[in-house]
Amino acid sequence: MYLFKRKEELERHLTTARNNGKHIGFVPTMGALHRGHISLINAAKENSELVVCSIFVNPTQFNDPKDFEKYPVTIDQDVQMLTEAGCDVLFLPTVQEMYPDGLTAKMHYDFGSLETVLEGAARPGHFQGVGQVVHQLLNLVQPDKLFMGQKDLQQCLIINRLLKIIDSQVELVICPTVREKDGLAMSSRNLRLNATERENALHLYKGLSEIKHNYQQANLKTLKEKVVNELKTSGFEVDYVELISILEDGSVIFPDTAATSPLYAVVAAKELSSGVRLIDNIAL
Ligand code: PAJ
Repeated sequence: MYLFKRKEELERHLTTARNNGKHIGFVPTMGALHRGHISLINAAKENSELVVCSIFVNPTQFNDPKDFEKYPVTIDQDVQMLTEAGCDVLFLPTVQEMYPDGLTAKMHYDFGSLETVLEGAARPGHFQGVGQVVHQLLNLVQPDKLFMGQKDLQQCLIINRLLKIIDSQVELVICPTVREKDGLAMSSRNLRLNATERENALHLYKGLSEIKHNYQQANLKTLKEKVVNELKTSGFEVDYVELISILEDGSVIFPDTAATSPLYAVVAAKELSSGVRLIDNIAL
């Protein structure tokens, strides 16, 4: 696997590959890699001749400075996992390399109402930061396909919108959420949980499963409230438990009844003992 820390080195390598007719699959990450990330590398390998992964803990998308400081970094292990998975190129830039002119955004993306609901409401500025870094990475890598996880469903919708805003031909491939055996969605932030907190974190998946099993019979409002209360009594601060429907234009609505499809149950909550905020979702 080639490892590049400089934009110029990466661009030179990829220009040659592209001139040799190789189709590029790209997997952007923030590292602390797990099987969820590797599933994206595998999907990229199946669908492209050259796979590029980036690892960059992007400061502009962290609305909480403590979350940024504590974000896990396991670079040696990441390199090993990517090598074993058969990734061709790793781009590992510094903050200075990505933001030579400082962190202040030069662009504002109009993500519409997507930016004011759910993660957008709970983490002001987060999606502008995601847009800023993914836009820059896309310009550098110029992939044919971009692989992202359904685990971050709203992020997928934001990137879909970004591709339209920047008039990009890149195809977004959304891959299913990889879970631990007991159902907990794999996440880099799980590394910050001790055994008890890790056990407690499972309540997110339990809540989503409860909604999945009952939403057709139950009053949605009452069902959501029940799950919120269960999370609260298990030691969580709840940002949201919602049922959402995604419209054809990629926007999100909050139906009162289970009639609209495709429906997803989404949750975001902070496990209070660890202070770790977790998100998850399932298709209903
Ligand atoms: P990160 O959280 O490292 O996630 C990188 C990619 O892995 C995202 O597309 C995410 O949805 C996917 N992913 C995470 N956990 C997963 C799981 N359990 N199963 C399947 N896929 C999973 O998302 C980001 O980084 C950043 O916001 C980024 C897009 C890199 C921009 O900085």
